[in-house]
Amino acid sequence: MADLRQEIARRRTFAIISHPDAGKTTLTEKLLLYGGAIQLAGAVKGKASARHAVSDWMELEKQRGISITSSVMQFEYDGFCINILDTPGHQDFSEDTYRTLMAADSAVMVIDAAKGIEPQTRKLFKVCAMRHIPIFTFINKLDRDARSPYDLIEQLETEFGIGTYPMNWPIGSGRDFKGVYDRQAGHILAFTDFHRGSQKIEAIEVDLTDTASLDELIGPRLREDLQNDVELLDGAGYEFDLEQVRTGKLSPVFFGSALTNFGVEPFLKSFLALTPPPLPRQAQEGVVDPFDDGFSAFVFKIQANMNKAHRDRIAFLRVCSGKFERDAEYFHVQGGKTLRLAQPQQMMAESRQIIDEAYAGDIIGIFDPGIFSIGDTVCAKGHKVTYEGIPTFAPEIFAAVERIDTMKRKQFEKGMTEIAQEGAIQIFHAPGSGLEEVIVGVVGILQLEVLEYRLKTEYGVDVRRRGLPYQYVRWIENRDMDLSRLNLGTDSRWVQDFKGNDLLVFGGQWSIRWAEEKNPGLILREFKQD
Ligand code: G4P
Repeated sequence: MADLRQEIARRRTFAIISHPDAGKTTLTEKLLLYGGAIQLAGAVKGKASARHAVSDWMELEKQRGISITSSVMQFEYDGFCINILDTPGHQDFSEDTYRTLMAADSAVMVIDAAKGIEPQTRKLFKVCAMRHIPIFTFINKLDRDARSPYDLIEQLETEFGIGTYPMNWPIGSGRDFKGVYDRQAGHILAFTDFHRGSQKIEAIEVDLTDTASLDELIGPRLREDLQNDVELLDGAGYEFDLEQVRTGKLSPVFFGSALTNFGVEPFLKSFLALTPPPLPRQAQEGVVDPFDDGFSAFVFKIQANMNKAHRDRIAFLRVCSGKFERDAEYFHVQGGKTLRLAQPQQMMAESRQIIDEAYAGDIIGIFDPGIFSIGDTVCAKGHKVTYEGIPTFAPEIFAAVERIDTMKRKQFEKGMTEIAQEGAIQIFHAPGSGLEEVIVGVVGILQLEVLEYRLKTEYGVDVRRRGLPYQYVRWIENRDMDLSRLNLGTDSRWVQDFKGNDLLVFGGQWSIRWAEEKNPGLILREFKQD
């Protein structure tokens, strides 16, 4: 079992989050470069070129230039096996980000040094904070004019209510950017003109006490500023505390420039030393240790149409314990069935590889014939565990969607159901009725556009959509209540989801209170935990 232990202990699985354009793709690309996983800059995502990563699988994404879905990349570095989970930058897909974070053990937040925290950074941070996972901050684009590092740090602390610990400190920015001071090592890494536009250059190291060399390299003014800054940081900032980092209370902050590849490798080394290996996870049966020999995993994402040539659907699983083996039979807990996982795959930028084995911490993609739902558990036979489901976000935007061509009922229902199973939208309908007219609930309006686009391109169905005045949804807990007799406000309605659960949709907060007051005994829940 020594192998199993070693393999799991060297896994590091994390998600990268950022506001669009902060440099998430560039940073990912540079990280992969160190792992030798790709040779070319631009291989992850080239907006300007014809190359597109798995994460850009949809035309709509390309047109909009945003990453809607998320993909997974694995590479090796310094004995570690690293899984990077890419997340959509757009706030309308924060539910997808939340699910992805369920599969990650930590998150890297990329921030543009000229802009500081941006709207999507805010939303995504909130989602990270809900998971209490460690958050590492990479402040990017120091080769351009940047805001004062003090301002940036203060903004993180005041807006996010977390402590920060600068791991390094920038020396100037933009044309004056001269490098960073590594606080642990006590030396500076100098940024020279050679770095601009180059791919992989070793930084020059100079000790902070070596005034003569520093003056030569960065000039007396910046050297003096730096020495003052270092004194101030050492005296005034937070203490470094790994426990606080691991619980998401203290964020280690790194300054750098992903494009010029400056500060990326020191970041990677330091990050790997601090970010945790796969952690134990809560299941209904108790806490599951990742080092258990029994394989277990849960589905955190389902993605259709990854490959245009074959209309297929892939379920992404995070392995939580033990080792996955290609030919073994496993148990799908929610389906109550034994199965052999067809074509287990790992995603690598543009390609997929069939894999023979995977360990706790890894992400595998398996072919889904339509049996999996988000949150499902798959485990070794005779080692049954059931992971706690992934909560469904309460939708805030509602629309009635119906097909234009009345002949296309089957395709419409199939499309709606499949897209809902993937967790891309939530669908509701009048109790007892079919899917003639469907009420769609989403967190962001862009999800509705994606729905329309996919119904048309994948299922050949044109639809008409009409906004509905609802803003809140509550799941009904009661099993034995005659729901047809509920006393509801005029802007409220009883509906069912595609699994047959009963819900109420409401136009305002006050009508939720009304429903609770007028119907004694009614129990409403904000989240549905499957
Ligand atoms: P995203 O995934 O977070 O959306 O950002 P992405 O990496 O695509 O970067 C957005 C833009 O910022 C890109 O320029 C990229 O080259 C640039 N960029 C990223 N990191 C740095 C950095 O450290 N310094 C500077 N100066 N620029 C950086 P673009 O012109 O929009 O796209 P492209 O044509 O270069 O692909």
